[in-house]
Amino acid sequence: MSARPETRVALTGEEPQEVERFAEIASAAVYDAGIAQGEDQAGKEYWDGLWTDAALPEPIDHTDADFRNRPERVMAEYLHGCLGDLDPGSRLLEVGCARSPWLPYFAHRYGFRVTGLDYSEPGCAAERRVLRRAEVDGEVIEADMFDPPPELLGSFDVVVSFGVIEHFAKTTSALSAIGSLTKPGGLVITTVPNMTGAIGWLQRQLNPAVFDIHVPLDAPALAHAHRLADLQVERSDYLLSTNFGVVNLHGLSPSRRNRLAAAGLLHLTRLSKLAWITEERIGHLPETQMFAAHVACCARR
Ligand SMILES: C[S@@+](CC[C@H](N)C(=O)[O-])C[C@H]1O[C@@H](n2cnc3c(N)ncnc32)[C@H](O)[C@@H]1O
Repeated sequence: MSARPETRVALTGEEPQEVERFAEIASAAVYDAGIAQGEDQAGKEYWDGLWTDAALPEPIDHTDADFRNRPERVMAEYLHGCLGDLDPGSRLLEVGCARSPWLPYFAHRYGFRVTGLDYSEPGCAAERRVLRRAEVDGEVIEADMFDPPPELLGSFDVVVSFGVIEHFAKTTSALSAIGSLTKPGGLVITTVPNMTGAIGWLQRQLNPAVFDIHVPLDAPALAHAHRLADLQVERSDYLLSTNFGVVNLHGLSPSRRNRLAAAGLLHLTRLSKLAWITEERIGHLPETQMFAAHVACCARR
């Protein structure tokens, strides 16, 4: 995937000022809703429960051409478009790093010096196991991103986060905290699940408890929140044509309705895989606000 200009998929054909206005309205709605719901919508206990005894993830292999590896390859291509020019030895931090397969990948593919930060103790322990397994010499720091050790401030060439900032009612505060860890001129790369289209709609219908710990952000709203956090947006994109496999049924009781929902979701997940096979043969399907799996933003401090 080559570097694309800032995307406005949700508003194709509209005037730039209308795009800005939409983003402002979307963001204002997000912030107003958020303030009523508090700051951290998931909470440390939720993550501790998720990461305790969690199995380690498969390592990322961007060269694996199997269609089932398409989500990882699409993400890796996107990251490469943002990171390709950085020197080996650059310092990269992953915020919300618990059990992430990405830190070893960054160390191996780019030669970056990697650090992870997460406030979940079992999450940090899992990430230390991931690094040890990959024989990567990275540091994992158990800390709150809103109150990090002072020596981390302004010290990273790149700060990435995958699925973290949408759990905060005040999106801009979360991005400001992440930006403060970045060197002036350094990169901030943010991805969130796309809760604004069909996947989000399904998440809300099937498991509202999980939907409720997310702030839905489309590409213009995510980009706008970065600008409000004093970050210069370089790219704003939807990623991966479809992936119904990201709908999360965690915590549901085994009622008849939920079993039917799980079976239906399995069929939709197979449809996503069929789309990936098609893409392997005929090329990229469009990545749209309605069906894409993730929203991403690459910005500079
Ligand atoms: C969706 S998970 C990230 C998934 C993980 N990086 C992966 O790729 O598998 C979000 C993570 O953010 C962490 N987190 C949430 N709020 C945080 C905060 N204020 N400070 C540090 N970490 C936080 C959670 O503990 C959780 O591990």
